[in-house]
Amino acid sequence: IGGLDTSCILAWLKEEGYDVITYLANIGQDEDFESARKKAETLGATKVFIEDLRAEFVQDFIWPAVQANAVYEDRYLLGTAIARPCIAQRQVEIARQEGAQFVSHGATGKGNDQIRFELTCYALYPEVIAPWRIPKFYNRFRGRTDLMEYAQKHGIPVPVTPRAPWSMDANLMHISECVCVFVFQCHAPGDLYLMTKNPEDSPNARDLLEIEFKKGVPIKVTNMNEGKSVDSPLDIFSYLNEIGGKHGVGRIDIVENRFIGMKSRGIYETPGGTILLQAHLDIETFTMDKEVRKIKQGLGVKFSELVYNGFWYSPECDFVRQCIAKSQENVEGKVQLSVFKGQVYILGRESPKSLYNEELVSMDVQGDYDPCDASGFIRVNAVRLREHHRLQGFFNTK
Ligand code: ARG
Ligand code: SIN
Repeated sequence: IGGLDTSCILAWLKEEGYDVITYLANIGQDEDFESARKKAETLGATKVFIEDLRAEFVQDFIWPAVQANAVYEDRYLLGTAIARPCIAQRQVEIARQEGAQFVSHGATGKGNDQIRFELTCYALYPEVIAPWRIPKFYNRFRGRTDLMEYAQKHGIPVPVTPRAPWSMDANLMHISECVCVFVFQCHAPGDLYLMTKNPEDSPNARDLLEIEFKKGVPIKVTNMNEGKSVDSPLDIFSYLNEIGGKHGVGRIDIVENRFIGMKSRGIYETPGGTILLQAHLDIETFTMDKEVRKIKQGLGVKFSELVYNGFWYSPECDFVRQCIAKSQENVEGKVQLSVFKGQVYILGRESPKSLYNEELVSMDVQGDYDPCDASGFIRVNAVRLREHHRLQGFFNTK
């Protein structure tokens, strides 16, 4: 019920004879919720739900992504994808509670979001109406002009400013701009970025932070410059967004592969998420067994792909999340880092669960380790390599 599309969908569904209950999730986007409520009421919504899901979003969705070091195609931190199951799950709850026959959404027929919303809905129960895929709907609204005309006829407030030529999605975790009309080489204009300062204009003094982790999630953030600290999930994430934003951390401009098969260009700002990714990687490697870490890294890639493709509520994603959570049992301690000019610099770490053994790694102390053992270890590892090169005739040519 926020934008033009969803307002038209509401009016259209009513025209088609449905009673419509509207739902708007607050997941940290900058939005005028009260005017959205009024708009929905004016348009004839039977009921209006505006739900504050911010704390839940951080704890139940962003934190598992932090534990997983979730990144899609090596760069995208999944800010939109991770929010979809959170939004849709509450929508299903409301649908059940109100005895609704269908749930509907405003996502277009070409993107990932339709898949993510609907897989969650189907997984959790109701029937879905996707107006942007109903011929009667999309033949009626062939472009923005049709929507504007329809809006005017139905007393739907139309935006006065011409829409920016990119489609935005915003929440606590990130802001995404899908620059569908731009050619790929066209640089993003500076005013596209809303969460982060241009690093070229960011402060000339760093912020020094200490992030404390327990079970792979942050439990406290302290700003060492100011002595300020925060410790609730929502405050922690919001504060890291503020610091990261101030220093221009977490901007990326990428071309990615949608689940549906096409490539699209996305520009993302994920300030807090980027700081947490770096800090978590550091404390994780410090406290986690080498072989467990390798397996867990693969699970993180799998998790990211499942989230991107909309499979949060699937048996395999459930399994992967549980394995990842298990791997995080000893991931605790403090990471110190500075944030400066678009970068996160890890400076130090400490942990009661550290696997770092100063004596073992020292150049001066022997510790519980006999260097002579290394000779056999190396020779045994070389067996395979010698065989490989022998078969290639390497030794004969000498
Ligand atoms: N491409 C990203 C994704 O699929 C972000 C999509 C954001 N949606 C939008 N309407 N801008 O997760
Ligand atoms: C979507 O994923 O449905 C939106 C398309 C985009 O902006 O990437």
